[in-house]
Amino acid sequence: MQLTRLSLTNFRNFARMDVFVPDGTILIVGDNAQGKTSILEAIYFLATLSSFHAGSDREMINLIAGQEKLAVARIVGEFKKGKSSHRLEVRIIQEKNGNGGRVRKEVLLDGVKKRSREAIGAFNAVLFLPQMMQVIEGPPDERRRYLDMAISQVVPQAASALLEYSKVVSQRNALLKKLAETGGNPDQLDFWDERLAKRGAEIIHQRIHTIQELDLIAGRIHHEITGGNEVLRLDYRPAFDPMPAPANQPALLYSPPNRSQITVEKIESGFLQALKDNRRMEIARGVTTIGPHRDDLSFISNGMDLGTYGSRGQVRTAMMTMKLAEMHWMREKTGYWPVLLLDEVLAELDEHRRADLMGRVSQSNQSLLTTTDVGLFDPDRIAGWQQWQIRAGTLTEEKPEEV
Ligand SMILES: Nc1ncnc2c1ncn2[C@@H]1O[C@H](COP(=O)(O)OP(=O)(O)OP(=O)(O)O)[C@@H](O)[C@H]1O
Ligand SMILES: [Mg+2]
Repeated sequence: MQLTRLSLTNFRNFARMDVFVPDGTILIVGDNAQGKTSILEAIYFLATLSSFHAGSDREMINLIAGQEKLAVARIVGEFKKGKSSHRLEVRIIQEKNGNGGRVRKEVLLDGVKKRSREAIGAFNAVLFLPQMMQVIEGPPDERRRYLDMAISQVVPQAASALLEYSKVVSQRNALLKKLAETGGNPDQLDFWDERLAKRGAEIIHQRIHTIQELDLIAGRIHHEITGGNEVLRLDYRPAFDPMPAPANQPALLYSPPNRSQITVEKIESGFLQALKDNRRMEIARGVTTIGPHRDDLSFISNGMDLGTYGSRGQVRTAMMTMKLAEMHWMREKTGYWPVLLLDEVLAELDEHRRADLMGRVSQSNQSLLTTTDVGLFDPDRIAGWQQWQIRAGTLTEEKPEEV
Protein backbone atom coordinates (compact mmCIF):
# COMPACT_ATOMS: atom_id res chain seq x y z
CA MET A 1 0.00 0.00 0.00
CA GLN A 2 1.34 3.43 -0.92
CA LEU A 3 0.14 6.92 -0.26
CA THR A 4 0.56 8.83 -3.51
CA ARG A 5 -0.72 12.25 -2.52
CA LEU A 6 -1.54 14.09 0.68
CA SER A 7 -3.48 17.32 0.97
CA LEU A 8 -4.18 19.15 4.18
CA THR A 9 -6.40 22.14 4.74
CA ASN A 10 -6.64 23.91 8.10
CA PHE A 11 -5.11 20.90 9.79
CA ARG A 12 -3.11 21.95 12.88
CA ASN A 13 -0.45 24.46 11.74
CA PHE A 14 -0.96 23.66 8.04
CA ALA A 15 -3.28 26.17 6.41
CA ARG A 16 -2.87 24.52 3.03
CA MET A 17 -0.48 21.79 1.97
CA ASP A 18 -0.48 19.50 -1.03
CA VAL A 19 2.28 17.05 -1.86
CA PHE A 20 2.85 14.03 -4.09
CA VAL A 21 4.24 11.21 -1.99
CA PRO A 22 6.90 8.97 -3.53
CA ASP A 23 7.44 5.26 -2.75
CA GLY A 24 10.29 4.19 -0.53
CA THR A 25 11.50 6.11 2.50
CA ILE A 26 10.85 9.77 3.15
CA LEU A 27 12.69 11.71 5.82
CA ILE A 28 10.74 14.63 7.27
CA VAL A 29 13.22 17.12 8.64
CA GLY A 30 12.58 20.24 10.69
CA ASP A 31 13.15 22.06 13.95
CA ASN A 32 10.83 21.63 16.90
CA ALA A 33 7.22 22.74 16.55
CA GLN A 34 7.25 23.05 12.74
CA GLY A 35 4.68 20.35 11.88
CA LYS A 36 6.55 17.04 11.47
CA THR A 37 4.43 15.00 13.87
CA SER A 38 1.28 16.65 12.53
CA ILE A 39 1.95 15.17 9.08
CA LEU A 40 2.23 11.67 10.53
CA GLU A 41 -0.89 12.29 12.61
CA ALA A 42 -2.83 13.29 9.49
CA ILE A 43 -1.77 10.15 7.62
CA TYR A 44 -2.58 7.93 10.58
CA PHE A 45 -5.99 9.56 10.85
CA LEU A 46 -6.77 8.24 7.37
CA ALA A 47 -6.15 4.72 8.65
CA THR A 48 -7.96 4.80 11.99
CA LEU A 49 -10.37 7.70 11.39
CA SER A 50 -9.80 8.73 14.96
CA SER A 51 -6.99 10.56 16.69
CA PHE A 52 -4.30 8.81 18.66
CA HIS A 53 -4.42 11.67 21.12
CA ALA A 54 -6.80 11.24 23.99
CA GLY A 55 -8.11 14.72 23.17
CA SER A 56 -10.88 15.55 20.78
CA ASP A 57 -10.97 15.94 17.02
CA ARG A 58 -11.50 19.64 17.62
CA GLU A 59 -7.82 20.15 18.49
CA MET A 60 -6.82 19.23 14.95
CA ILE A 61 -8.67 22.15 13.38
CA ASN A 62 -6.31 25.04 12.72
CA LEU A 63 -6.74 27.51 15.56
CA ILE A 64 -7.08 30.55 13.32
CA ALA A 65 -9.60 28.87 11.01
CA GLY A 66 -11.40 27.65 14.13
CA GLN A 67 -12.33 31.25 15.05
CA GLU A 68 -14.82 31.32 12.18
CA LYS A 69 -18.49 30.36 12.53
CA LEU A 70 -17.86 27.37 10.29
CA ALA A 71 -14.41 25.74 10.18
CA VAL A 72 -13.39 22.64 8.27
CA ALA A 73 -10.13 20.75 8.66
CA ARG A 74 -9.61 18.44 5.73
CA ILE A 75 -7.26 15.53 5.14
CA VAL A 76 -7.23 14.01 1.67
CA GLY A 77 -5.13 10.97 0.87
CA GLU A 78 -4.79 9.30 -2.49
CA PHE A 79 -3.36 5.82 -2.27
CA LYS A 80 -2.59 2.68 -4.24
CA LYS A 81 -3.50 -0.79 -3.06
CA GLY A 82 -2.07 -3.28 -5.49
CA LYS A 83 -3.36 -2.13 -8.86
CA SER A 84 -6.30 -0.11 -7.62
CA SER A 85 -6.21 3.58 -6.70
CA HIS A 86 -8.38 5.21 -4.07
CA ARG A 87 -9.12 8.56 -2.54
CA LEU A 88 -10.03 9.01 1.09
CA GLU A 89 -11.18 12.34 2.43
CA VAL A 90 -11.89 13.22 6.03
CA ARG A 91 -13.50 16.48 7.05
CA ILE A 92 -13.61 17.62 10.63
CA ILE A 93 -16.30 20.22 10.80
CA GLN A 94 -16.86 22.68 13.59
CA GLU A 95 -20.05 24.71 13.61
CA LYS A 96 -20.37 27.42 16.20
CA ASN A 97 -23.75 28.04 17.72
CA GLY A 98 -25.12 29.75 20.83
CA ASN A 99 -23.60 27.35 23.36
CA GLY A 100 -20.04 26.75 22.21
CA GLY A 101 -19.82 24.59 19.11
CA ARG A 102 -20.36 21.19 17.67
CA VAL A 103 -17.71 19.06 15.96
CA ARG A 104 -18.58 16.32 13.53
CA LYS A 105 -16.74 14.20 11.01
CA GLU A 106 -17.45 13.33 7.41
CA VAL A 107 -15.67 10.54 5.59
CA LEU A 108 -15.67 10.07 1.81
CA LEU A 109 -14.15 7.00 0.20
CA ASP A 110 -13.77 7.34 -3.57
CA GLY A 111 -16.23 10.21 -3.44
CA VAL A 112 -18.93 8.29 -1.56
CA LYS A 113 -19.94 9.26 1.97
CA LYS A 114 -19.28 6.49 4.48
CA ARG A 115 -19.60 5.98 8.17
CA SER A 116 -16.24 5.87 9.94
CA ARG A 117 -16.61 2.21 10.75
CA GLU A 118 -17.29 1.41 7.08
CA ALA A 119 -14.22 3.24 5.84
CA ILE A 120 -11.80 2.16 8.54
CA GLY A 121 -9.24 -0.25 7.15
CA ALA A 122 -9.45 1.02 3.56
CA PHE A 123 -6.03 2.52 4.15
CA ASN A 124 -3.57 0.93 6.59
CA ALA A 125 -0.76 2.52 8.54
CA VAL A 126 1.40 1.71 11.54
CA LEU A 127 2.48 4.62 13.73
CA PHE A 128 5.30 4.86 16.25
CA LEU A 129 5.40 7.88 18.53
CA PRO A 130 7.85 8.28 21.42
CA GLN A 131 4.94 8.69 23.85
CA MET A 132 3.71 5.23 22.82
CA MET A 133 6.07 3.82 25.41
CA GLN A 134 3.02 4.47 27.56
CA VAL A 135 1.50 1.42 25.91
CA ILE A 136 4.00 -0.64 27.88
CA GLU A 137 4.50 1.59 30.93
CA GLY A 138 1.14 3.32 31.30
CA PRO A 139 -2.29 2.24 32.52
CA PRO A 140 -4.18 -0.71 30.91
CA ASP A 141 -6.45 1.50 28.80
CA GLU A 142 -3.37 2.48 26.75
CA ARG A 143 -2.82 -1.18 25.91
CA ARG A 144 -6.46 -1.79 25.07
CA ARG A 145 -6.46 1.26 22.81
CA TYR A 146 -3.28 0.05 21.11
CA LEU A 147 -4.80 -3.37 20.43
CA ASP A 148 -8.15 -1.97 19.32
CA MET A 149 -6.54 0.43 16.84
CA ALA A 150 -4.48 -2.33 15.25
CA ILE A 151 -7.35 -4.83 15.14
CA SER A 152 -9.95 -2.36 13.85
CA GLN A 153 -7.82 -1.52 10.82
CA VAL A 154 -7.64 -5.17 9.79
CA VAL A 155 -10.96 -6.62 10.99
CA PRO A 156 -13.72 -4.09 10.28
CA GLN A 157 -16.34 -6.12 12.24
CA ALA A 158 -14.17 -5.69 15.31
CA ALA A 159 -14.66 -1.92 15.18
CA SER A 160 -18.45 -2.44 15.24
CA ALA A 161 -18.22 -4.97 18.06
CA LEU A 162 -16.13 -2.57 20.15
CA LEU A 163 -18.48 0.32 19.53
CA GLU A 164 -21.57 -1.68 20.47
CA TYR A 165 -19.87 -3.30 23.44
CA SER A 166 -18.96 0.04 24.97
CA LYS A 167 -22.53 1.29 24.53
CA VAL A 168 -23.85 -1.86 26.24
CA VAL A 169 -21.41 -1.37 29.14
CA SER A 170 -22.67 2.20 29.67
CA GLN A 171 -26.31 1.16 29.55
CA ARG A 172 -25.76 -1.83 31.79
CA ASN A 173 -23.84 0.32 34.27
CA ALA A 174 -26.70 2.82 34.34
CA LEU A 175 -29.13 0.01 35.14
CA LEU A 176 -26.84 -1.48 37.80
CA LYS A 177 -26.62 1.91 39.43
CA LYS A 178 -30.38 2.34 39.34
CA LEU A 179 -30.90 -1.10 40.87
CA ALA A 180 -28.38 -0.26 43.60
CA GLU A 181 -29.96 3.09 44.40
CA THR A 182 -33.69 2.57 43.96
CA GLY A 183 -34.03 -1.22 43.80
CA GLY A 184 -36.14 -3.05 41.22
CA ASN A 185 -36.24 -6.40 39.49
CA PRO A 186 -32.70 -7.64 38.76
CA ASP A 187 -34.10 -9.72 35.87
CA GLN A 188 -34.00 -6.51 33.85
CA LEU A 189 -30.29 -7.22 33.55
CA ASP A 190 -30.85 -10.39 31.51
CA PHE A 191 -31.24 -8.46 28.26
CA TRP A 192 -28.02 -6.48 28.76
CA ASP A 193 -26.10 -9.51 30.02
CA GLU A 194 -26.85 -11.37 26.81
CA ARG A 195 -25.72 -8.53 24.59
CA LEU A 196 -22.66 -7.90 26.71
CA ALA A 197 -21.65 -11.57 26.57
CA LYS A 198 -22.24 -11.83 22.83
CA ARG A 199 -20.22 -8.77 21.82
CA GLY A 200 -17.71 -9.27 24.62
CA ALA A 201 -17.01 -12.85 23.51
CA GLU A 202 -16.32 -11.66 19.97
CA ILE A 203 -13.82 -9.12 21.28
CA ILE A 204 -12.11 -11.59 23.63
CA HIS A 205 -11.89 -14.20 20.86
CA GLN A 206 -10.37 -11.66 18.48
CA ARG A 207 -7.89 -10.48 21.09
CA ILE A 208 -6.79 -14.03 21.92
CA HIS A 209 -5.92 -14.69 18.29
CA THR A 210 -4.40 -11.30 17.52
CA ILE A 211 -2.17 -11.39 20.58
CA GLN A 212 -1.07 -14.90 19.77
CA GLU A 213 -0.20 -13.94 16.19
CA LEU A 214 1.61 -10.77 17.27
CA ASP A 215 3.45 -12.72 19.98
CA LEU A 216 4.93 -15.06 17.39
CA ILE A 217 6.07 -12.33 15.02
CA ALA A 218 7.30 -10.00 17.79
CA GLY A 219 9.25 -12.81 19.45
CA ARG A 220 11.18 -13.42 16.25
CA ILE A 221 11.87 -9.73 15.52
CA HIS A 222 12.88 -8.99 19.10
CA HIS A 223 15.29 -11.88 19.14
CA GLU A 224 16.98 -10.40 16.06
CA ILE A 225 17.00 -6.79 17.23
CA THR A 226 18.47 -7.64 20.62
CA GLY A 227 21.05 -9.99 19.16
CA GLY A 228 19.44 -12.97 20.90
CA ASN A 229 19.67 -11.35 24.33
CA GLU A 230 16.00 -10.95 25.01
CA VAL A 231 12.97 -13.19 24.67
CA LEU A 232 9.79 -11.13 24.35
CA ARG A 233 6.41 -12.63 25.16
CA LEU A 234 2.96 -11.05 25.09
CA ASP A 235 0.62 -12.18 27.80
CA TYR A 236 -3.10 -11.47 27.45
CA ARG A 237 -4.78 -10.84 30.81
CA PRO A 238 -8.50 -10.93 30.14
CA ALA A 239 -10.73 -9.61 32.94
CA PHE A 240 -13.13 -12.43 32.16
CA ASP A 241 -10.77 -15.31 31.50
CA PRO A 242 -12.36 -18.21 29.60
CA MET A 243 -9.41 -20.35 30.69
CA PRO A 244 -8.25 -19.22 34.13
CA ALA A 245 -4.73 -20.25 35.16
CA PRO A 246 -4.63 -23.05 37.71
CA ALA A 247 -4.36 -21.75 41.27
CA ASN A 248 -1.06 -22.04 43.13
CA GLN A 249 1.02 -22.26 39.99
CA PRO A 250 4.64 -21.44 40.90
CA ALA A 251 5.51 -18.00 39.47
CA LEU A 252 8.75 -19.23 37.95
CA LEU A 253 6.98 -21.83 35.85
CA TYR A 254 4.52 -19.32 34.49
CA SER A 255 4.09 -19.18 30.77
CA PRO A 256 1.16 -17.52 28.99
CA PRO A 257 -1.69 -20.03 28.59
CA ASN A 258 -2.74 -21.10 25.11
CA ARG A 259 -6.38 -20.10 24.70
CA SER A 260 -6.49 -20.50 20.93
CA GLN A 261 -8.72 -23.59 20.92
CA ILE A 262 -11.58 -21.93 22.79
CA THR A 263 -14.57 -21.19 20.56
CA VAL A 264 -16.41 -17.91 20.61
CA GLU A 265 -19.57 -19.78 21.76
CA LYS A 266 -17.73 -21.23 24.71
CA ILE A 267 -16.42 -17.80 25.69
CA GLU A 268 -19.92 -16.36 25.39
CA SER A 269 -21.56 -18.99 27.61
CA GLY A 270 -18.77 -18.74 30.20
CA PHE A 271 -18.99 -14.95 30.22
CA LEU A 272 -22.78 -15.08 30.64
CA GLN A 273 -22.44 -17.49 33.55
CA ALA A 274 -19.81 -15.27 35.19
CA LEU A 275 -22.17 -12.29 34.89
CA LYS A 276 -24.88 -14.30 36.64
CA ASP A 277 -22.48 -15.40 39.38
CA ASN A 278 -21.34 -11.81 39.94
CA ARG A 279 -24.76 -10.22 39.70
CA ARG A 280 -25.30 -9.44 43.40
CA MET A 281 -21.83 -8.00 43.78
CA GLU A 282 -22.18 -5.92 40.61
CA ILE A 283 -25.53 -4.50 41.72
CA ALA A 284 -23.97 -3.57 45.06
CA ARG A 285 -21.09 -1.82 43.28
CA GLY A 286 -23.20 -0.35 40.49
CA VAL A 287 -20.68 -1.17 37.76
CA THR A 288 -19.74 -3.92 35.29
CA THR A 289 -16.61 -5.47 36.76
CA ILE A 290 -15.60 -8.07 34.16
CA GLY A 291 -15.24 -8.03 30.38
CA PRO A 292 -12.99 -6.69 27.63
CA HIS A 293 -13.31 -3.09 28.92
CA ARG A 294 -11.14 -4.22 31.86
CA ASP A 295 -8.69 -6.43 29.92
CA ASP A 296 -4.94 -6.03 30.12
CA LEU A 297 -1.86 -7.22 28.29
CA SER A 298 1.68 -7.68 29.63
CA PHE A 299 4.95 -7.38 27.76
CA ILE A 300 7.36 -9.88 29.26
CA SER A 301 11.07 -9.84 28.47
CA ASN A 302 13.21 -12.65 29.82
CA GLY A 303 10.46 -13.39 32.30
CA MET A 304 10.20 -9.81 33.59
CA ASP A 305 7.25 -7.52 33.08
CA LEU A 306 8.63 -4.56 31.12
CA GLY A 307 5.89 -2.27 32.43
CA THR A 308 7.37 -2.60 35.91
CA TYR A 309 11.00 -3.58 35.39
CA GLY A 310 11.98 -2.43 31.90
CA SER A 311 14.83 0.06 31.34
CA ARG A 312 14.05 2.99 29.06
CA GLY A 313 15.97 1.61 26.12
CA GLN A 314 14.46 -1.80 26.69
CA VAL A 315 10.90 -0.45 26.69
CA ARG A 316 11.63 1.64 23.63
CA THR A 317 13.07 -1.31 21.78
CA ALA A 318 10.13 -3.53 22.75
CA MET A 319 7.70 -0.89 21.49
CA MET A 320 9.64 -0.66 18.24
CA THR A 321 9.46 -4.45 17.97
CA MET A 322 5.69 -4.28 18.49
CA LYS A 323 5.34 -1.73 15.70
CA LEU A 324 7.37 -3.83 13.30
CA ALA A 325 5.36 -6.88 14.33
CA GLU A 326 2.16 -4.93 13.67
CA MET A 327 3.47 -4.07 10.21
CA HIS A 328 4.20 -7.72 9.35
CA TRP A 329 0.92 -8.86 10.90
CA MET A 330 -1.09 -6.41 8.79
CA ARG A 331 0.73 -7.58 5.71
CA GLU A 332 -0.17 -11.20 6.54
CA LYS A 333 -3.80 -10.30 7.19
CA THR A 334 -4.49 -7.89 4.33
CA GLY A 335 -1.92 -8.86 1.72
CA TYR A 336 -0.50 -5.32 1.66
CA TRP A 337 2.28 -3.60 3.55
CA PRO A 338 0.88 -0.76 5.66
CA VAL A 339 2.53 2.65 5.44
CA LEU A 340 5.05 2.92 8.27
CA LEU A 341 5.10 6.19 10.23
CA LEU A 342 7.97 6.69 12.67
CA ASP A 343 8.26 9.81 14.81
CA GLU A 344 11.71 10.58 16.27
CA VAL A 345 12.47 6.91 16.26
CA LEU A 346 16.25 6.95 16.61
CA ALA A 347 16.47 8.86 19.88
CA GLU A 348 17.65 6.80 22.86
CA LEU A 349 18.72 3.80 20.79
CA ASP A 350 22.33 2.67 20.71
CA GLU A 351 24.23 2.66 17.43
CA HIS A 352 23.72 -1.04 16.91
CA ARG A 353 19.95 -0.87 17.27
CA ARG A 354 19.80 2.23 15.07
CA ALA A 355 21.56 0.45 12.22
CA ASP A 356 19.36 -2.61 12.61
CA LEU A 357 16.20 -0.53 12.65
CA MET A 358 17.16 1.40 9.52
CA GLY A 359 17.54 -1.89 7.69
CA ARG A 360 14.01 -2.91 8.66
CA VAL A 361 12.35 0.35 7.72
CA SER A 362 12.85 -0.36 4.05
CA GLN A 363 10.92 -3.64 4.31
CA SER A 364 7.66 -1.75 3.97
CA ASN A 365 6.84 -0.25 0.56
CA GLN A 366 6.66 3.16 2.09
CA SER A 367 7.92 4.69 5.31
CA LEU A 368 7.88 8.24 6.62
CA LEU A 369 10.32 9.16 9.38
CA THR A 370 10.69 12.45 11.21
CA THR A 371 13.82 13.95 12.70
CA THR A 372 15.17 17.24 13.95
CA ASP A 373 18.68 16.09 13.11
CA VAL A 374 19.68 14.46 9.82
CA GLY A 375 23.08 13.82 11.40
CA LEU A 376 21.60 10.88 13.32
CA PHE A 377 21.25 8.97 10.07
CA ASP A 378 23.92 7.11 8.18
CA PRO A 379 24.64 9.31 5.09
CA ASP A 380 25.06 6.29 2.81
CA ARG A 381 21.73 4.90 3.80
CA ILE A 382 19.72 8.10 3.38
CA ALA A 383 21.37 9.10 0.09
CA GLY A 384 18.50 7.51 -1.86
CA TRP A 385 15.73 8.86 0.35
CA GLN A 386 13.46 11.75 -0.42
CA GLN A 387 13.66 14.55 2.12
CA TRP A 388 10.93 16.95 3.11
CA GLN A 389 11.90 20.12 4.96
CA ILE A 390 9.15 21.41 7.23
CA ARG A 391 9.08 24.97 8.43
CA ALA A 392 6.11 26.60 10.13
CA GLY A 393 3.57 24.45 8.33
CA THR A 394 5.24 24.73 4.92
CA LEU A 395 6.76 21.77 3.14
CA THR A 396 9.70 21.90 0.73
CA GLU A 397 10.80 18.81 -1.19
CA GLU A 398 14.38 17.83 -1.75
CA LYS A 399 15.01 15.18 -4.34
CA PRO A 400 17.31 12.33 -3.40
CA GLU A 401 20.86 12.28 -4.72
CA GLU A 402 21.42 10.08 -7.74
CA VAL A 403 22.95 6.80 -6.64
N1 LIG B 1 -4.97 23.24 15.98
C1 LIG B 1 -3.80 23.86 15.78
N2 LIG B 1 -3.76 25.03 15.10
C2 LIG B 1 -2.58 25.66 14.87
N3 LIG B 1 -1.41 25.20 15.30
C3 LIG B 1 -1.38 24.04 15.99
C4 LIG B 1 -2.57 23.31 16.25
N4 LIG B 1 -2.26 22.20 16.96
C5 LIG B 1 -0.93 22.23 17.10
N5 LIG B 1 -0.40 23.34 16.54
C6 LIG B 1 1.02 23.76 16.47
O1 LIG B 1 1.60 23.14 15.36
C7 LIG B 1 3.01 23.12 15.53
C8 LIG B 1 3.57 21.84 14.99
O2 LIG B 1 3.37 20.77 15.87
P1 LIG B 1 4.07 19.37 15.65
O3 LIG B 1 3.77 18.55 16.83
O4 LIG B 1 3.67 18.83 14.33
O5 LIG B 1 5.60 19.81 15.64
P2 LIG B 1 6.92 18.96 15.36
O6 LIG B 1 7.57 19.50 14.14
O7 LIG B 1 6.62 17.51 15.39
O8 LIG B 1 7.79 19.39 16.62
P3 LIG B 1 8.77 18.53 17.62
O9 LIG B 1 10.07 18.41 16.94
O10 LIG B 1 8.84 19.44 18.79
O11 LIG B 1 8.09 17.26 17.91
C9 LIG B 1 3.24 23.39 17.00
O12 LIG B 1 3.75 24.69 17.16
C10 LIG B 1 1.87 23.30 17.62
O13 LIG B 1 1.74 24.14 18.72
MG1 LIG C 1 7.04 16.06 16.84
